[in-house]
Order: sequence, then structure tokens, then C-alpha cells
Amino acid sequence: MSSDIARAAVQYHYDVGNAFYDLWLDDTRTYSCALRDGPDDTLEAAQERKLAFHLDAIGADRAASVLDIGCGWGSVLERLALTHRVPRSVGLTLSEEQASFVAARGHPGVEARVQDWRDHQPDGAYDGIVSIGAFEHFARPDDTVAEKVARYREFFLRCRDWLTPDGTLSLQTIAYANMSRDDASGFMQREVFPHADLPTLSEIAAAAEGVFEIRSVHNGRLDYAWTCEQWARRLRARRAEATALVGPDTVARYERYLKLSALGFRMGKIGLLRLVMAPYRDGFFR
Ligand SMILES: C[S@@+](CC[C@H](N)C(=O)[O-])C[C@H]1O[C@@H](n2cnc3c(N)ncnc32)[C@H](O)[C@@H]1O
Repeated sequence: MSSDIARAAVQYHYDVGNAFYDLWLDDTRTYSCALRDGPDDTLEAAQERKLAFHLDAIGADRAASVLDIGCGWGSVLERLALTHRVPRSVGLTLSEEQASFVAARGHPGVEARVQDWRDHQPDGAYDGIVSIGAFEHFARPDDTVAEKVARYREFFLRCRDWLTPDGTLSLQTIAYANMSRDDASGFMQREVFPHADLPTLSEIAAAAEGVFEIRSVHNGRLDYAWTCEQWARRLRARRAEATALVGPDTVARYERYLKLSALGFRMGKIGLLRLVMAPYRDGFFR
């Protein structure tokens, strides 16, 4: 997929407007699966736990430089700057609105770029790379499986080359699970995430082979079902304001997409993978 198509596809989804997402995301402005702990958890606490999971995985306390591929509205970047005092963090997004939002926060050492990872030229090596909820956008529905794996492998090769030898990649992505990609929802592919296709765990493993060691994999699909249900509940509660901002069709589209996604995760048709990965160097295992 060319960078232009990737950018247009991502902007279609994310540039609906920051004010719209503000109505139903929690205060961390995190737009990805939370990490739930028990029935009394709140969305915000679960999002903080998720962020802490990824920041711990990359050793943020010891890091001098971190890359966030698909930084959204900057929840990882903010914690890198303010909690972990990381001197330099770079976030990549394809959304102008997200990059402007992050820039306006003015956190020390943080830079958000409107840039596809394929065009990224780092200023120096990164101690850690986080990528949450972006991998879902890398392949497209008409790719063959071989093309998908090649695209993912290119991503892993870049990440490996950008990391220090002891660096870590913490990756979170939705994946096809107990369903075939041929049965993917046309509504989701046409109207919610155009030009996007999910990976499978085996495609990720094949793409990473010989490039990254997969240190751990967790499937948090029920966490994502719950997260989507929380978002849907919050959007419903603010429906009138949302409709005034983006119109009834867009609100109906988001409500339908959140409901379908929650159902897909509950049924195990799709999964939510959290992978912690360390680069192979010089053909030996660290
Ligand atoms: C679902 S959002 C997740 C944002 C954030 N990580 C979070 O958890 O809140 C996906 C993000 O990936 C970005 N993205 C998608 N494809 C990308 C690409 N090829 N290069 C850089 N960023 C990309 C989008 O712009 C968006 O910021």
C-alpha cells in the first residue's frame, strides 16, 4: 500500500475529530484495548495498566530514547516524558489532528511526526519501541498471505535496525483468531477501517522469524470486548452531543462497529495480542 493510500485510510478513521473521540474515550485518550483487572475496574485504571505493561516491557525507566509507532493522542509519549523522564521520545501517526494535539501538549523531549513508519529515518538508536493498535493498518484486504507476511517482515526488520542491541519491541495488535479472513465483515473493511486487514498470529510469527525473539504473547480478547463495551456505553450516553458534532450517520456507524467488535472478541473470532519481542543479533540468541 502506498503511503498516500495508508494516510488517507487512517485519516478517514481518526480525523473524524478530536472532540468526537473526547466524548467517549477516557481521560488518557487511549484508543486501544485496556488491561482489565477484575469486575470493579474502571476504563481509565485499565488503560493506565495497559500503558504501564508496555512501558515496563521496554524498560522505560532506563531508556534514553523511545519510538511509539502509531502514537494516537500521545498517552505513551506523555508517560515517557512525565513518569519515566525519558529524554527523547518520537511518536509516529498518520493523523494530522493527533500530531497537532500531541505537539500542543508540549511535553519535554516529545516529538510527534505525521509520518508512515516506512518513511521514518531515526536520528539515533532507540532503547525501546512501542506499537499499540497500528499493526492492524499495515496490510490490506487484497494482499496475498505472502504479501502480508512480507509487509510485516519489513516492519520487523526496520524495528530491529532502529533498536539498540538490548532494545525491546512491545507490540499490541488485533488478530484474526477463530475465523477466516474471507469472512471478515465488509462493513468494517469498507466503512470503518478502509484498506486494512488484520494479521494472524502465525503470520506475525513467520514475519518475525530470525529477526525477533518472541519473549511473550498474551491474548487479551475479553479485555478488548469489555473495552469496546465501555466505549459503546459512553458514546451512547453522549449520543446527542456526538450527533451534533459528526452527524447521525457517523455516530450510528461507530455504535455498530463497537458492538460488532465486542461480539467478535467475546466469540473468539478475533483476538488481542500483546507481544514482547527482542531483536536477534548476529545470528545468536541473547
Ligand atoms: C488505534 S490508534 C492507536 C493509537 C495509540 N497507540 C493508542 O493506543 O491510543 C492507531 C494509530 O496508528 C497510526 N498508524 C496507522 N498506520 C500507521 C503507519 N503506517 N505509520 C505510522 N502510524 C500509523 C494511526 O495514525 C493511529 O495513531
